[in-house]
Amino acid sequence: MYFDILTLFPGIFSSPFSESILARAREKGLLEINLINIRDYTHDKHNVADDYPYGGGAGMVMKIEPIYRAWEDIRQQRGEDSPVILLSPQGRRLDQTLVKDLSKERGLTLICGHYEGVDERVRQSIVTDEISIGDYVLTGGEIAAIVLVDAVARMIPGVLGDEQSRIEDSFYNGLLDYPHYTRPREFKGMEVPEILLSGHHGEIARWRRKQALKRTLLRRPDLLAEKELNPEDQELLKEIKAELEGGN
Ligand code: ADE
Repeated sequence: MYFDILTLFPGIFSSPFSESILARAREKGLLEINLINIRDYTHDKHNVADDYPYGGGAGMVMKIEPIYRAWEDIRQQRGEDSPVILLSPQGRRLDQTLVKDLSKERGLTLICGHYEGVDERVRQSIVTDEISIGDYVLTGGEIAAIVLVDAVARMIPGVLGDEQSRIEDSFYNGLLDYPHYTRPREFKGMEVPEILLSGHHGEIARWRRKQALKRTLLRRPDLLAEKELNPEDQELLKEIKAELEGGN
């Protein structure tokens, strides 16, 4: 999958995409990151990519022309249209459902906004989706783009070493993750739950499912309310509620 990222600050992306899983995915050819400096598409001698807002007010606004030219260039080079996502706090909130949908695309174009925003005509003419990574304001869209690329890339088959971890992890199946343990068996009086040492795979799976349901019930009941539970989950949830009422 490819990402064409339009930014005024390509340097922000260098280490997140050059370490660990994303670096390996790029080496394996599963992930292509193409950083495009918007400033390279300015035509004036000072490479101006932003300007004062019409109507006055604080801050600067990113100009449309260099962004538009960069996008035209990408389309021509790719020979196809990909969704064009503007990262901004005004967008649809990113969640795992949206991440999964985005991972089905062949490629995405990301536009990282900065300053007070981008000229509204960028939205009108080329943006197909506007996405926010949460209800808070960052200094620019770059960090949001890194979050989006990371979340989408790990859904691409082959990017994670162990495909099972993608299937089991938080949110993939609409629940929070169950607790994990590794050696030592005991640390400062805290023991690893006995069941995990038992070797009974069926019971371990049931315990993990129950813990995932319990965590979700306690921390994110909104997720449980949205989820269709199978009879086994319903049974586990009944047990959990009875235990909680009993003070366990
Ligand atoms: N740019 C600034 N804040 C942002 C956010 N919360 N999500 C996406 N892009 C942003």
